[in-house]
Amino acid sequence: MKRIALLGATGSIGRQAIEVIDANPELELVAAMSGSRPIEGLAPLTQTGGDPVELLERAQPDVVLNAVVGFAGLAPTMWALEHGVTLALANKESLVAAGELALAARSRGGGAIIPVDSEHSAIFQCAQLGEPESLVLTASGGPFRGRGADELEAVTPAEALVHPTWSMGPKITIDSATLANKGLELIEAHFLFAMPYERIEVVIHPPSIVHGLVRFRDGAVIAHLGNPDMRVPISYALNYPVRAATPVAPLALQTLEFFEPDLETFSMLALGREAGERGGSYPAAYNAANEVAVEAFLAGRIGFLDIAPLVAEVLARVEGAPARELAELVEADRRARELAGVSLA
Ligand SMILES: NC(=O)c1ccc[n+]([C@@H]2O[C@H](COP(=O)([O-])OP(=O)(O)OC[C@H]3O[C@@H](n4cnc5c(N)ncnc54)[C@H](OP(=O)(O)O)[C@@H]3O)[C@@H](O)[C@H]2O)c1
Repeated sequence: MKRIALLGATGSIGRQAIEVIDANPELELVAAMSGSRPIEGLAPLTQTGGDPVELLERAQPDVVLNAVVGFAGLAPTMWALEHGVTLALANKESLVAAGELALAARSRGGGAIIPVDSEHSAIFQCAQLGEPESLVLTASGGPFRGRGADELEAVTPAEALVHPTWSMGPKITIDSATLANKGLELIEAHFLFAMPYERIEVVIHPPSIVHGLVRFRDGAVIAHLGNPDMRVPISYALNYPVRAATPVAPLALQTLEFFEPDLETFSMLALGREAGERGGSYPAAYNAANEVAVEAFLAGRIGFLDIAPLVAEVLARVEGAPARELAELVEADRRARELAGVSLA
């Protein structure tokens, strides 16, 4: 029996996780948290808002499923890693912002990170077959794949919120439309798999059937395929190392196509790679500026094509620092938000 604490219980990942847990007698939901929506009765321990660490201390779970959106997920990520509690990680933003510190905490705590992000779950599974030489992350390309900048000027949040293959929360859906999601995932993969950036490739694969590929030194490439359904990676992370049954339909085999990403139109991917390569506090600044920009776009304050320039401007203005302490990263996050706010004003 695994005792699960679910943070972000009301969200897209959170709701699907509850479905996975309810269907499996080996999994027990002992604690649940939301940001603002009420969840009383969902689990023996519940909390809305406040400090997630208080809930985790009371619950003492075997697995923390961090499905909070954004930088707010940092504290539960660090708590799980410091305490050697298995971290089922959907909240990529915490690993992007604090990758080096998170990995150091994992070494101290002795626990494991099992990725929930479908691409990273796929690569994690492929990587069990040997030492990866390089990685390939797939991206659907989002709702605006194939469009040029002139066709994106007037797109609305409502149009950007319609994802072609996945049904997800609003922030990650916009990130998928700008390809910032792939920028974040590139940094996430760098930390999760200790892989240099030049050995992580991104390809556009519109149907989201191949979730990730690993190249090995003997020339073999192992790919992970499946219908785009987050219940599969959620179930894998919660049951690891057991592979439990899910109600997901069998995959119909089909022609698979891959394309180069358009880095000029969707420059958030290139900016993500750049921030990752610069390292230190740059990934935290990239993430923070993106969070502010996405919020502003969803609120109708800026256009779709204003997101990347806003993030680029913040990255050009922040003073990068090594990521030695959590307080420094919290400060880098705050500073990037401040700079983004000034640009918006
Ligand atoms: N959705 C997907 O298919 C998918 C796939 C891969 C990775 N991910 C990642 O998973 C994470 C969650 O995504 P999502 O799509 O599920 O987002 P979502 O639907 O927007 O849900 C976000 C959840 O976080 C909670 N929350 C927000 N601020 C919080 C805070 N300060 N403290 C505690 N909880 C807080 C929300 O609570 P309230 O409802 O009360 O506001 C909600 O339960 C993101 O990092 C995303 O990148 C998602």
